Amino acid sequence: MAYRFDILTLFPGLFSGLRQESLLGKALDAGTLDLQLHDWRRFTTDKHHTADDAPFGGGAGLLLKPDPVVACLQDLQTKQPFASPVLLLSPAGRLFRQQDAHAWAQGPGLTLLCGRYEGFDARVETSVDDVISIGDYVLNGGEVAAMVILEAVARLIPGVIGNAASLHDESHADGLLEYPQYTRPRTFAGQDVPDILLSGDHAKIAQWRRQQRLQRTRQRRPDLLVNATLSAQDAGFLAALDALGPPEPGRP
Ligand code: ADE
Repeated sequence: MAYRFDILTLFPGLFSGLRQESLLGKALDAGTLDLQLHDWRRFTTDKHHTADDAPFGGGAGLLLKPDPVVACLQDLQTKQPFASPVLLLSPAGRLFRQQDAHAWAQGPGLTLLCGRYEGFDARVETSVDDVISIGDYVLNGGEVAAMVILEAVARLIPGVIGNAASLHDESHADGLLEYPQYTRPRTFAGQDVPDILLSGDHAKIAQWRRQQRLQRTRQRRPDLLVNATLSAQDAGFLAALDALGPPEPGRP
């Protein structure tokens, strides 16, 4: 059965590009993925179809009313062929990580609620399983955040990406950043491809790549090293780097 994304949004048109383009479009056409959009303005009951209102207690902007979105969600849940985790997208959520994408890719689907304006009335949160942020910045709405999660999850579903092996070495696969990669030409802008990659010695290349991953992560994302799975050899390599001093500021 297709992996199913249900997206609750006041702006379903924002998702039209996804249907047409690239691997996601192909997976939707092939029936590996299913994308259902739900405009919850249909569930407003006043004649102006009002989805927002002023916050109690005062403050800037407008809030999304809880009743239409929760009515839309409940209607959807009676029709879904299976229950899927419901995520509310908000800059006030917990941070989305690759390990979440792996966990959600195991299930039959995902239901994503996209906010707008100053966000949802807080009582909507009792109807969702998790509140998720894609990063420490504020977007105009949850739609782009939902697309980020959709793409990160979809590419882990079997059949969406042609070369599944490419998932193993990529950044965040095991808590480290990816090693640098090179293709032709051998010299570009005065920079040569590292000799080791032309040596044909696969064990040496694997060791070099592992060290590059460690060095890069230490330089760019030292916070990731705390939770990364490191061998004694990895730890020794990092200790040797530390003995040389802190990472140089700027690009590695
Ligand atoms: N909506 C607005 N900003 C967001 C963010 N950073 N993550 C998820 N949803 C959002």
